[in-house]
Amino acid sequence: MKLKPNIASMEAYTPGKTVPGAVKLSSNENPLGPSPKAVEAIREVLSGVHRYPDGASTTLKRTLAESWEVDPESIMVANGSDEIFALLAASWISPGENAVGVRETFSQYRYAVGLFGAEMREISLKDGEYHLEGMLEQVDGQTRIIFLCNPNNPTGTYRSHRDILDFLEKIDSEVLVVLDEAYADFADEEDFPNSRKLLEVFQNLVVTRTFSKLYGLAGLRVGYAVGDPQIISGTDRASMPFNVNNLAQAAALAALSDKDHKQRTLDLVKTEKAFFEKELDKRGIFHYPTQANFICFELKNDVADLWAPIAERGIALRDLRSFGLPRMARYTFGTRENNVRLLEILDELL
Ligand SMILES: Cc1ncc(COP(=O)(O)O)c(C=O)c1O
Repeated sequence: MKLKPNIASMEAYTPGKTVPGAVKLSSNENPLGPSPKAVEAIREVLSGVHRYPDGASTTLKRTLAESWEVDPESIMVANGSDEIFALLAASWISPGENAVGVRETFSQYRYAVGLFGAEMREISLKDGEYHLEGMLEQVDGQTRIIFLCNPNNPTGTYRSHRDILDFLEKIDSEVLVVLDEAYADFADEEDFPNSRKLLEVFQNLVVTRTFSKLYGLAGLRVGYAVGDPQIISGTDRASMPFNVNNLAQAAALAALSDKDHKQRTLDLVKTEKAFFEKELDKRGIFHYPTQANFICFELKNDVADLWAPIAERGIALRDLRSFGLPRMARYTFGTRENNVRLLEILDELL
């Protein structure tokens, strides 16, 4: 059998590794676990899993629409934001056309575009940040989608409201701009983009969010997109009928209402980020300034040589070779105990 060339040439996804005996802080999950309210909501719907879920995620969509102050038609919910990227590519790009993004970023944009046989044009970050000006130079008459990750995974860096606004103004309204805000909940800089305001101005903008990080529901797979109703309905046409299961819908709804869990998570990330950045600085370890729940820092040796000894000592980090950053590691802020442990390990090994 002949595998389609675009599928044969696709690289398999490299997940953050789980190591027996080590704390997994390699996938930017929530170290406090899921919202207890979400766990309770799952228990309540368990006895109804013989029924298909609500294929339109009606209540979840309505609740999200209220918080974004948009119509429910402006929201689509999917099996993780990963699925949204694939659905966007399924609906809006064809072989012979291209998408524009950067190399050192989340790999699922590349995957989505490759899946549908289109070209992914990638340039490098500039000083660890999205090189928006360089991306503009890649855009041509065949460009259908532009992917932006803000804050960027794996660097944690961000581009400001002004920068994104200026960029959007230069993009033809027929080109879809996907702004992946998986980590935006953690951003606290004043000039971080207000994507709701941007959505009011740009009909070609789609913003994606996830329940996998702040809300601690990575294992249930729930993500969503906000955008112009015409783009949302066009994208949703490509999705499978019951892509978000009933446990996931119930848990996401409950997690949204759990202000306590959300605040505890944000407080933990804020405190531990300040602590960890200061400790890295004391040791002269280079790191990017982060607006996310993780930090990207430099190891003196290739991560290939250090990753396993670090894991053996109790912490599983993300090795960034697959992101094209062989000397950098990405670490999800854990509890104080986890963070102190990693610093001890670094002191021993570096
Ligand atoms: C930037 C970014 N976007 C999206 C995702 C995936 O989110 P989901 O779990 O909703 O598919 C991740 C997960 O690591 C991510 O880092």
